[in-house]
Amino acid sequence: MKTDDRAIRVREVRRQLARSGPARTRDFDDDFAYITLPERDCDLLRDLIIAEQAETVVEVGLAYGSSALAVGEALVSRDHAYPRHILIDPFQEDMWANVGWNLLCSAGLDPIATLLRGRSSDAFPRLIADGLIADAAFVDGSHLFHDVFLDFYYLRKIVKPGGLVIIDDADKSSVRTAAHYFEVNLGWTALSDPFAAGTWRPVADDPSGASVPRCRAFRLPDVLSEPRSSDFLPF
Ligand SMILES: C[S@@+](CC[C@H](N)C(=O)[O-])C[C@H]1O[C@@H](n2cnc3c(N)ncnc32)[C@H](O)[C@@H]1O
Repeated sequence: MKTDDRAIRVREVRRQLARSGPARTRDFDDDFAYITLPERDCDLLRDLIIAEQAETVVEVGLAYGSSALAVGEALVSRDHAYPRHILIDPFQEDMWANVGWNLLCSAGLDPIATLLRGRSSDAFPRLIADGLIADAAFVDGSHLFHDVFLDFYYLRKIVKPGGLVIIDDADKSSVRTAAHYFEVNLGWTALSDPFAAGTWRPVADDPSGASVPRCRAFRLPDVLSEPRSSDFLPF
């Protein structure tokens, strides 16, 4: 299939998902809207990955697949020789009835996608041992501080120097705090601001506080180097 046809097919599955929702959801009110990345943010995610010319992308957290379809659309929108999309989700079958994976398959993205059905804290060391180098990553997995911190810790070794780490839920305290360590101490630079036209939410769910875009993107330094422990900056 030609590049344009592949992207059109993915776009159609994305549109259908955004309009009609997934084939199955968990038994909670508005679970799809609550869990999945909104269509507008997905478009911005796709555009950012296309602009980045990323050929290998790692994604944490598949769930209903909206963000994964956007990443997949980006990967097939360019004439890459070997586009690769590595997804990690321990609960895709038990919690999400394989909805996200089945959508990737129906969009024709399974030939470029690999789903690792485990926790990212277990999957990342194996990917590092296999020598994976990614151009970019999208993180929307566990939101526990220590899990997010570990995701960033490993992605620093997996995403190439100068590559991109994009995160959802940047308004949440756990995610903000973890990201802040990497900004303050390890030279990650927030891009300004690819998700400004997307969803904005109040920081830490405080309606009286400032709002920020729910997604953020960080550029990694051009050289991967370890700081001295004595240079540690409280964050
Ligand atoms: C908010 S949902 C992701 C939504 C998805 N981006 C979308 O657009 O539908 C979070 C996902 O992270 C997964 N998850 C939870 N803990 C994880 C972990 N330790 N490692 C990887 N994924 C995890 C969940 O199973 C769930 O699929």
